[in-house]
Amino acid sequence: MESVRRATQKDMSGIMGLMAKGVREGLLVRRTKADILDDIRDGDCFVFGDRRIRGMVFLAVYSRKIAELRSLYVEEPLRSRGVGGMLVNAALERARQKKVMEVMTITNRAKERWFGRFGFKEELNDFRVAMFLRPTDT
Ligand SMILES: CC(C)(COP(=O)(O)OP(=O)(O)OC[C@H]1O[C@@H](n2cnc3c(N)ncnc32)[C@H](O)[C@@H]1OP(=O)(O)O)[C@@H](O)C(=O)NCCC(=O)NCCS
Repeated sequence: MESVRRATQKDMSGIMGLMAKGVREGLLVRRTKADILDDIRDGDCFVFGDRRIRGMVFLAVYSRKIAELRSLYVEEPLRSRGVGGMLVNAALERARQKKVMEVMTITNRAKERWFGRFGFKEELNDFRVAMFLRPTDT
């Protein structure tokens, strides 16, 4: 039976396929193959599906302090069946195992409520906020 599991290198082409789809739709940020392979080797990528990968998520661990939940994607026909939720929970469990202090995700306003279900908030401890800039733009 299909379930959420840790990705292996054999899943690489399926992952790249989903990634390309998400990037085309303007929902995911493109990532290099090397970057993705690193996360797979570290055990920080989770997928849904056996031979055909139908959902994925990455926990990009930047330090003990912070990790990013990224490239979350579930194929359209499979949505609203709890797969996205299972993927997020697998990544959050991994963050707990690695004793990461904070997990963030960058998303759009439309997904705020969805991520809120897991405890994600715009503010940390009700007073710290995340701020962004692109150094090449300033
Ligand atoms: C976000 C995404 C991963 C969710 O996957 P999923 O498998 O549908 O997730 P779940 O089944 O666990 O949750 C779906 C539930 O949340 C609800 N939901 C979906 N989008 C929502 C939103 N924007 N706000 C609030 N609730 C939402 C659905 O109605 C559904 O509820 P239901 O079960 O009562 O029908 C999926 O929609 C997706 O791949 N989207 C495109 C890629 C994307 O936007 N990724 C996030 C980039 S940061």
